[in-house]
Amino acid sequence: MSARGVRWVALLAAALSLTAACAQEAPSNARELIDLRVPRSFPRMIVPEDNPTTRQGVALGRQLYYDRRLDPHGARACADCHLQNRGFSNPMVRGVIPHVNLAWSYYFLWDGHFEGGLEEAMRMEVEDFFGTDVNRLREPDLEEMFLAAFGTREITTRRAAYALAQFQRTMISQDSRFDRYVDGDASAINESERRGMQIFYSERGECFHCHATRLFTDNRFHNIGLDRQIAGTGRGAITRDPQDDGRFKTPTLRNVERTGPYMHDDRFATLEQVVDFYSEGLVYSDTIDSLMPNVSGGGMRLAPQERADLVAFLRTLTDETFLNNPDLGPPRR
Ligand code: HEC
Ligand code: HEC
Repeated sequence: MSARGVRWVALLAAALSLTAACAQEAPSNARELIDLRVPRSFPRMIVPEDNPTTRQGVALGRQLYYDRRLDPHGARACADCHLQNRGFSNPMVRGVIPHVNLAWSYYFLWDGHFEGGLEEAMRMEVEDFFGTDVNRLREPDLEEMFLAAFGTREITTRRAAYALAQFQRTMISQDSRFDRYVDGDASAINESERRGMQIFYSERGECFHCHATRLFTDNRFHNIGLDRQIAGTGRGAITRDPQDDGRFKTPTLRNVERTGPYMHDDRFATLEQVVDFYSEGLVYSDTIDSLMPNVSGGGMRLAPQERADLVAFLRTLTDETFLNNPDLGPPRR
């Protein structure tokens, strides 16, 4: 077992003795920790001590993610807007952000409206966005699952959110062709993709500064030069600081081939259009990021072959293992 695994067991033991002390119903020996394996070169995953990832918690979170009872009107589930084969985004719903590797996020939504960990973000989703009515969840099948996950049949929105957070932590994309290449398989990408990768990681493209690390996001906000009129938009709408106007959260590029249309307002339908924008569509505004190259000339001015190479590279970030992982799909009955 890895060092992380050992630490987890110790943690769970502590957590279980606590629950056993306060909740008499708890069959405290049944919960099994999951060791979330990620490549070494990923940043450190954020996991709070009061919500270790267990097989039972993940099963409950997955059930709730696909369960319309979470909605007081029974009309929609998370998975109705967040579609697995689209990287948990949705071409039909405006501005949906994919759910991938959110375990590393500490700002959520395009303008960073939710700040904090995944647990807090899920509480907002359940309590504020859905307005979940726990009475609707008080049915025997779910009560059994809450008992298995948290040692009590008592259903609260907090526990529902914690289970959803556990499930979200298992949504890890790490097996694209790009990953295989980085992990040593030189044949995983072709010549054109390799040339596109060079642009991505060059000072000319600057892409990697913001779409950073193997998560392809720096978890920060930038104005990339989409619009001239930016007053009160993006992060600025939250902080009320004009310095933040026009700045939006850097989206991950994992599975980007499947997550279109692109940008916070879905303005680009294809990756070719996105690359054309970075190449010659930039417009100046006061808060434009200093990393954006050659703004007065509209961008970095790529030749047609270079654009095709860059798009080809972006397609190597598609992770079929993740997009088809049955453990992330609707729960089996
Ligand atoms: C009606 C469609 C819809 C439903 C249903 C829905 N979402 Fe979303 N979700 C969105 C949209 C749109 C965004 C982006 C909104 C924004 O940034 O302003 C989003 C963003 C998110 C984000 C932020 C991701 C990030 O990287 O910042 C999380 C987390 C999330 N949703 C979780 C959930 C959960 C959990 C549920 C179920 C409780 C759910 N969503 C149900 C449409 C939906
Ligand atoms: C200064 C930081 C920064 C740099 C440099 C940068 N990006 Fe982005 N990128 C962002 C932000 C922020 C967004 C979202 C902007 C919005 O919606 O308003 C974005 C959006 C995108 C999207 C759309 C993703 C989606 O899901 O909607 C793609 C694709 C993309 N960038 C690729 C690139 C490429 C390729 C480069 C290099 C040519 C690059 N980016 C350079 C910050 C950056």
